[in-house]
Amino acid sequence: MRHERQMELMNRFVALRDTKTATMADKVRTQPTSAYTSPELHEQELAKIFRGRFLFAGLAGDAAMPGDYFCLDLAGLPVVVVRGEDGLLRAMVNMCTHRGARIFPDDHGHLEGRGIACPFHSWSFDMYGRLLGQPLAREGFKECDKGLLGMRALNVVERHGLVFVEPLATGGTGAGQDPDTLLGGADQDLADLNLGNYRLADSRTRTLPLNWKLVIDTFLESYHIFSLHRESIGPYYFSTPNIFESFDSTLLFAGVRSDIVTELDKPEAERNLLPYVTLQYFLYPNALIVHQIDHIETWQVFPGAGPDESIVTTNIYGLGEITDKARTYLTKNLDLLVGVTDTEDFPQGIRTQRAIEAGASDSFVFGRNEPGLIHFHEWIDHTLTTP
Ligand code: FES
Ligand SMILES: [Fe+2]
Repeated sequence: MRHERQMELMNRFVALRDTKTATMADKVRTQPTSAYTSPELHEQELAKIFRGRFLFAGLAGDAAMPGDYFCLDLAGLPVVVVRGEDGLLRAMVNMCTHRGARIFPDDHGHLEGRGIACPFHSWSFDMYGRLLGQPLAREGFKECDKGLLGMRALNVVERHGLVFVEPLATGGTGAGQDPDTLLGGADQDLADLNLGNYRLADSRTRTLPLNWKLVIDTFLESYHIFSLHRESIGPYYFSTPNIFESFDSTLLFAGVRSDIVTELDKPEAERNLLPYVTLQYFLYPNALIVHQIDHIETWQVFPGAGPDESIVTTNIYGLGEITDKARTYLTKNLDLLVGVTDTEDFPQGIRTQRAIEAGASDSFVFGRNEPGLIHFHEWIDHTLTTP
């Protein structure tokens, strides 16, 4: 990140700290708890938020070289992203057009030779999803047009090392999103992070018994750090103020470490912000790109089978090729990170989910000091009410 931008953000933090305030939303929001429990809303979210809009799928390094691929599940839709021989990414539904088996078997891999065979009856496909062969079928599919039995293609966009896929249901139409506006004004910040140079070191996926928005909510305010995390990270971060900026639907949210005060003694030209912050970009609707001093973490949160289930994937990436030593270091970092979320944040959210399902309360209140929460839920309202 350019020095000028770092100083802009640092000075904003200092001004808030000096005046003992924080970035404030215009007004408090009353949040209906049915947003986390309603089966009807869950169906609407699947249809309008998780189908037909571009979703963050991974970093470009997940399929860095021609023939590399990665697979993911976009709220139930199995997807594979492959880098073609021309260096461009393709996204396809990872399902065989014969009888629906998953074709690309692994989360990450590399295609060698002529292509890949479906495990069910060994139809084979090339890296672009074209059907190559149907062994032992003889006359079985004679009247079918082979050209129409290729894997279904999805729109994919690669920008500043970020990969987005538009999961479209069959026959569905997209929201008409212009891929150029996906990141809003966060384009420059994200370009500066050189995300294309990072490589995956380790990953964790878990299914949790709470609504996907309750998982996101915990990342969109730092107000809870001094309290919920008092035994872990609490002493090392400011709970308030933090650095907050909204760019259309994208949010920048930086948690500031307490030891930043040592940096403030230096003249401005010698100061750096990045070693003292966890720089977090929330990519609406369900992903976070987190820059820590020497690595990147990504979070993807999807709704599960119902409103009370979510699927959370956390990835950790290092700069350049990952040596054994780097992997050991990064895995340790990932364990520390998920140690905090999975033993402090998520159990808190799961208890809240149980309580609201039991009818404990009709609403929550989001304070003006929690602008990220207000912003996120206003965007959900906007998406659900836009035809
Ligand atoms: S389902 Fe793939 S070959 Fe039959
Ligand atoms: Fe937390």
